Amino acid sequence: MSDGRLIVVSNRLPKGDVPSGGLVFAVHEMLSQTGGLWIGAADPTKTAEDGLTQIGKGVYDRATFALSEDEHRHYYLGYSNSMLWPLFHHRADLLSFDQDDFDGYARVNARVARAIAEVAAPGDTIWIQDYHFLMVAKYLRELGVRNRIGLFLHIPCPNVSDLMALPQGADLPGWLAAHDLVGLQTQRDVSAVSDLLRLDRAIERLPNGGWIRKGHRFAVLSFPIGIDAQGFADTAASAPELPLRMPRDAPLILGVDRLDYSKGLVQRFDGFDTYLARRDAGGPRPTFLQIAPGSREDVAAYQEIRDQLERRAGAINGAHADLDWTPLRYVRRNIDRAILAGLYRRADVALVTPLADGMNLVAKEFVAAQDDEDPGVLILSHFAGAAEQLRAALLVNPFDTSALAEAIDRAIHMPLAERLERHAALRPMVFDQDITWWRDNFLRHLRGHAGFDRAMARFSAP
Ligand code: ADP
Ligand code: F6P
Repeated sequence: MSDGRLIVVSNRLPKGDVPSGGLVFAVHEMLSQTGGLWIGAADPTKTAEDGLTQIGKGVYDRATFALSEDEHRHYYLGYSNSMLWPLFHHRADLLSFDQDDFDGYARVNARVARAIAEVAAPGDTIWIQDYHFLMVAKYLRELGVRNRIGLFLHIPCPNVSDLMALPQGADLPGWLAAHDLVGLQTQRDVSAVSDLLRLDRAIERLPNGGWIRKGHRFAVLSFPIGIDAQGFADTAASAPELPLRMPRDAPLILGVDRLDYSKGLVQRFDGFDTYLARRDAGGPRPTFLQIAPGSREDVAAYQEIRDQLERRAGAINGAHADLDWTPLRYVRRNIDRAILAGLYRRADVALVTPLADGMNLVAKEFVAAQDDEDPGVLILSHFAGAAEQLRAALLVNPFDTSALAEAIDRAIHMPLAERLERHAALRPMVFDQDITWWRDNFLRHLRGHAGFDRAMARFSAP
C-alpha cells in the first residue's frame, strides 16, 4: 500500500498569534517534516456550510471547516469542554450535560467526516487528533471510507465508573472501534480503554492483543507524545536576555500552564504558601513565577478557577511579601516562545503538578531547556502522563500540600551531583523519544509497515 498523503484533523489550527496548547505545537512540528493537509475549525460565523476552505499552502496545506456560532457553543464549549473534558480528567462534579450540546457535537463531527471523505484519495492516511472528533471515524465508515484511520487522544482516559456519567457512554466503544488504531499517552490509559471496550458485547479481544468489532480489526496502543527536543534546547541556549527583575542568585521556581482546573494550580499555590510559611528566614528568597494564560473563558468552570487563583495569589503575597521581595508572580499572558525557553533554562525548579493530564509537554520542554552541566530540578505530578517516562523527576502527589512544600524545599537545596544524576536519566527520555519518534511510531503502526499483527502482539496485555 502506498503511504499516500497524511491528512490530520484537529480542532485548533495555528494562527499568527503564539499558540498555547501542546497539540498545536506537536502537529505543526510533525507536519513541517512530512507535509500533508491539516484541517481545523474556522472562526465561528453566523451560519456554516459544508466543505473546506483552503487557508494556506506551504510545506503542508491548511484548510478549515466552517462552524456556526451556535455549533461553537454546543460542540466546542458544550460537549467537548463541559462534558468530555471534565469527564476524561476525572472531574464528573464539573459536568454539565445538555442534549443540544451532543447534537451539535454529532453534527460537526458528521460535517468534518463529509469534508474528509471529499478530499481523501485511496491510500491517504487520516489521523484524527483528540476528543473533539470521537465520532468522525464512525461517520467516515458510514460514508464508505476504507482508508487507514488513526485517533490520538491527547488527554487521559476515563475509567468505567466515570463513563457512566456520559449519556453516550455505551456508544463510545463503538466510536473508538471505527478506527484502525487508537493511540493513547500512557499504559494507564491503554488499561482504561481496554476496560471500556469490554462494555460493548460486539467487541472481542484477539489473541494477538488487538481487538475486533463486526469483522473490523483495530488496535489500542500507547505512544507517549514528545517534543522537538533539540530544536527547543537550541532555542533555550540562545534565548534573548530575560526581562526578569530579581537578584541573579535568587532561586527561580517556574510554572507554565494553560489556565485549566486540571493543572492543579490552586493546590500548587497552596504548596508554595506552606513552603513559605515553613522556610528558614535566613535562607534563600525564591521567586515563584507562574505563567498561566487564560483558556476557554466562556466556560463557567474556567472563570471560577481564574478568580480563585487571583485571590490565592493576592493572599500569598499579602502574607509573605516584603518591601524588596515578591515571592509569587502570576502572569496571565502568552509569552514569546524564545523567552519561554530562556525562562525554563534560567529556572532552578519547575513545578508541573497537574491533578490529571494527558502528557504535559511543559515537563519535557523544561528538561530539554536545561544546561546539562547545571540542570534545574523537575517536580512532577504522578498524574501527568509524563510521569510514566520521567521517573527520575521529583515525583509528587499534587493534592498533598505539605509534600509539595517539602519537594520545593528539597529541589531548592538539591546538590549538583544529585541534579546531574536525575537530569542524565531524564534527558534520553525527552531527546530520544521526541516528536519524530512519536509520529513515526504511530504512523508505522497505523500504516501497518512493521506488521500490524506482530506489533500488536508486542503490546498485548497478559
Ligand atoms: P495542554 O496541551 O493541556 O495545554 P501541555 O503542557 O501539553 O498542556 O502543552 C502546553 C503547551 O503550550 C506547551 O508547548 C507550552 O510551552 C505552551 N504554553 C503554555 N503556556 C504558554 C504561554 N503563556 N505562552 C506561550 N506558550 C505557552
Ligand atoms: O492537549 C489538550 C488540548 O485540548 C488540545 O487539544 C488543545 O490544543 C489544548 O489542549 C488547548 O485547548 P484549546 O484548544 O481548547 O484552547
